[in-house]
Amino acid sequence: MTTSSKPVAIVTGGSQGIGEAITERLVQDGAAVCILDIDIERAEATAARLVDGGGTAIFRKADITDFAAVDRAIADTETTLGPIDLLVNNAGFTDAGDIETIALDSWHREIDVNLHGPYHCIRAVLPGMIDRRAGVIVNIASVNGMRYFGNPAYSAAKAGIINLTQSTASEFGKYGIRCNAVLPGSVRTNNTSWEIRIRKDPDVFNKLARWYPMGRVAEPEDIAKAVSFLASEDASYITGAMLPVDGGLMAGMNVMIDEFILESKD
Ligand SMILES: NC(=O)c1ccc[n+]([C@@H]2O[C@H](COP(=O)([O-])OP(=O)(O)OC[C@H]3O[C@@H](n4cnc5c(N)ncnc54)[C@H](O)[C@@H]3O)[C@@H](O)[C@H]2O)c1
Repeated sequence: MTTSSKPVAIVTGGSQGIGEAITERLVQDGAAVCILDIDIERAEATAARLVDGGGTAIFRKADITDFAAVDRAIADTETTLGPIDLLVNNAGFTDAGDIETIALDSWHREIDVNLHGPYHCIRAVLPGMIDRRAGVIVNIASVNGMRYFGNPAYSAAKAGIINLTQSTASEFGKYGIRCNAVLPGSVRTNNTSWEIRIRKDPDVFNKLARWYPMGRVAEPEDIAKAVSFLASEDASYITGAMLPVDGGLMAGMNVMIDEFILESKD
């Protein structure tokens, strides 16, 4: 394959869920996308589906916790598609658990995947972006990085990625590199933690909806639209920002207000 004349994007964890929606949206926007994932079968299927639809999409296997593997996969993508214009740090996971009882290796693995992984990817794309005096990085954080909503290891890592967004934006703005974070609330995906909750209560997303001022949880495409905007020229002066894409969850305590404050006015 020859290098692409399209803008080149890396989407980590782009084979399913939010990452798949982001990959699909970026391909629609005209980018050539490389999915960096550990799930070869799904990544291959997602890339093949997008290629069948006329887009440019490839996949490379890399566990983002392994810097050497990330560096190799990114170098290989540059050889195949061309220099990286956009990095979307999307891969992440949580096994839940609480502070007192979580297994120590689970704590370490969650910090590793959700914080060290994105750092590895940023570190690997930076030299090329600095050389070209251009580049965009979008980190998928979470409302958990701002407030406590359970999953303490995951939340600590997401708080870390928000600060990493700010330091990257501050240090590399002078090279024309922008770095922003998207903070989703609950998103309808089949990730490990939702799978466990859906098994306990198939109606979990409908029950959660009442906590959201917009009256619903997000679909993966809601997050993809925000990424597409932050990646675009329309966001050319936006860097170091934390954009909640949470249907208003962080804006106020809707349920508390309905149940206690407005009720007490009656
Ligand atoms: N779903 C939600 O409600 C929600 C809410 C807020 C934030 N987020 C964040 O959005 C992102 C995507 O979540 P999702 O729900 O789509 O998850 P998902 O589990 O559906 O998809 C995650 C993808 O990342 C890949 N991945 C996992 N570990 C990896 C590793 N070490 N190296 C490379 N790839 C790896 C998986 O193979 C998978 O393709 C995550 O960062 C998550 O924290 C999700």
